[in-house]
Amino acid sequence: PGGGRVFSGIQPTGVPHLGNYLGALENWVGLQSQYPSVLYSIVDLHSITQSQDPAQLRSNILDMAASLLACGIDPERAVLFQQSQVPEHAELSWILGCLTSMPRLRHLPQWKMKSKLKNEGSVGLYTYPVLQAADILLYKSTHVPVGEDQVQHLELAQDLARIFNHRYGDLFPEPAALLSSTRKVKSLRDPSAKMSKSDPQTMATITVTDSPDAIALKVRRAVTDFTSEVTFDPETRPGVSNLVTIHAAMEAIGVEEAVLRARGMDTAAYKALVAEVLIQRLTPIREEIRRLREDRAHLEEVLARGARRARELAAPVLREVRHRVGF
Ligand code: ADP
Ligand code: NA
Repeated sequence: PGGGRVFSGIQPTGVPHLGNYLGALENWVGLQSQYPSVLYSIVDLHSITQSQDPAQLRSNILDMAASLLACGIDPERAVLFQQSQVPEHAELSWILGCLTSMPRLRHLPQWKMKSKLKNEGSVGLYTYPVLQAADILLYKSTHVPVGEDQVQHLELAQDLARIFNHRYGDLFPEPAALLSSTRKVKSLRDPSAKMSKSDPQTMATITVTDSPDAIALKVRRAVTDFTSEVTFDPETRPGVSNLVTIHAAMEAIGVEEAVLRARGMDTAAYKALVAEVLIQRLTPIREEIRRLREDRAHLEEVLARGARRARELAAPVLREVRHRVGF
């Protein structure tokens, strides 16, 4: 693609896990050289839809900033910023919320999943997809990398662009989904579920800052099955197939090639290979995160500069929105 603007956000959940890295961040890194304009936001306004300890949140924001940089987000090529430092997001969200009906939001997946877990959800959690739409439209973004679980939320952003344009005159392009690879990393303890930060089992999730020992232990304990040969068949052999997926992704090879490299190995030997590959790939990232995390002033400066650049893009759009609405 020759033109276009990419926007994506990630919650400040601390350091990313392997699913975030392979399912989202690697893709984000690649998009930096494919699109002329790219914005990545640490979406802290979204994260307070569920209760957060303030000191922990502040620390998680810096952890995520360091992680994104260490994973290859380049602040020279991407505008990397903290959402709450750009107040235009919240204001546009309010305006878009006034163009949305309650029933339109009720069936969206975020609300259905998380409000059930909590027994009751906040108004913020309910309107979370409206804020997401504001994040995207505020920059007149044309392309949004999303996981499958976010497709319905992007559809709301598309609807809101249409609704706004219809009522107030053309302003927003309808943002298109960039479906990130169907690469799904599964839980190491329950390969029928995806690897997730909310998994209470620490052995189920590998984070990009896990030590070599922790990685080796977690991979060794990964649930497989009673067949010792290594094959790729996610339906009938989800455990070993998950390891093949991870191995292939970490080496940037196909799953067929990964299975070839496992020929003659039983699953125990293969686990040692996969652990070694993970350790090789994650060690430089872990060390870079540690280095960046020791220089808080530098991280804050990167985020402050990102916020200034984001506001330069957002301000004229919001000015136009306000004018059209009649403010
Ligand atoms: P989590 O599921 O741990 O709460 P998020 O929902 O914050 O993670 O996801 C952040 C990004 O990482 C999204 O783009 C999502 O699609 C991707 N992602 C999360 N978990 C996985 C996974 N297990 N496999 C692939 N991609 C994932
Ligand atoms: Na999620």
